[in-house]
Amino acid sequence: MSDFVFDENGDEVVLKKRTQAELEAGIAELADILGYTRRGVFFGGAGVSTESGIPDFRSQASEELAEELFGLPPEILLSIEFARKDPVTFHRYIREHIIDTAAKPNAAHLALAKLEADGRLAAVVTQNIDGLHQLAGSQNVYELHGSLQRNYCEGCAAKYSLDWVLDPANCREPDQVVPVCPKCGGWVRPDIVLYGEALPENAMLGAVAAINDADTLIVGGTSLVVYPAANFLHYFKGHTRVLINLGPTGYDSHADLVISAPIGEVLGEVIDQVPPRNTSET
Ligand SMILES: NC(=O)c1ccc[n+]([C@@H]2O[C@H](COP(=O)([O-])OP(=O)(O)OC[C@H]3O[C@@H](n4cnc5c(N)ncnc54)[C@H](O)[C@@H]3O)[C@@H](O)[C@H]2O)c1
Ligand SMILES: [Zn+2]
Repeated sequence: MSDFVFDENGDEVVLKKRTQAELEAGIAELADILGYTRRGVFFGGAGVSTESGIPDFRSQASEELAEELFGLPPEILLSIEFARKDPVTFHRYIREHIIDTAAKPNAAHLALAKLEADGRLAAVVTQNIDGLHQLAGSQNVYELHGSLQRNYCEGCAAKYSLDWVLDPANCREPDQVVPVCPKCGGWVRPDIVLYGEALPENAMLGAVAAINDADTLIVGGTSLVVYPAANFLHYFKGHTRVLINLGPTGYDSHADLVISAPIGEVLGEVIDQVPPRNTSET
């Protein structure tokens, strides 16, 4: 495992040395915690999918790429105002740099799905829009920022799949990147929360209820700088807080256990150490 971490901007290497022994102790402690967890909630972000090859936002590379290719930061390119003003550039950006149809769930997604199946995790609350938790088998997923897998027409609310919107035949001439509804001619947009838009109410209510009821809260792969999502952590009233993140976050000082290592590697190892649940327990 790597023995360095990135700062929360993702661009500067912080020379925080970790020994293998420290890391192993952290993993063993997390396995113990999960051993008594019955209604855990995982709260995550883009860092959960970097090991699947999807870059996060805080990395300098993502910022620079957007600036270099489009002359604008991701926060502008992914805003509702910009998407309406320049849908061709908006759709080019998400097709070329946000949507990754080849990405597969990594060890973190798979471990979380197994923890749910084993009756330890009640829900995953994610800021991600890639749909990889569901692909890994997680059932109870609250997507605070929506999902690229779903698309709908602004005019008539008809629903379309990701494959459908990516087919140039369903997109407006001459660029063939902006999908148009065959029923009403309206703009078919991804069901994601763009900057300047409100979070979906159902996902918010479900996430708050799950966090409020959780016995253990595991936060991972998120810089916690995107609001209001980060505020959800305040609803936790349970006993144990765990943070697994490469870079430092504002949550480090609140967590009972902090593991600064790649989350796929950590959860991939932890899952083998969690004791099996006795089927007679409640
Ligand atoms: N996969 C996706 O769906 C995706 C990708 C990029 C951005 N986004 C969106 O952008 C916003 C970004 O906010 P955010 O807080 O989710 O992400 P972020 O990019 O702000 O922060 C990611 C954090 O994860 C850490 N990290 C990166 N790789 C890691 C790994 N392998 N293991 C552990 N930690 C790792 C980084 O140090 C950083 O602190 C979100 O709203 C999200 O909707 C989503
Ligand atoms: Zn329509």
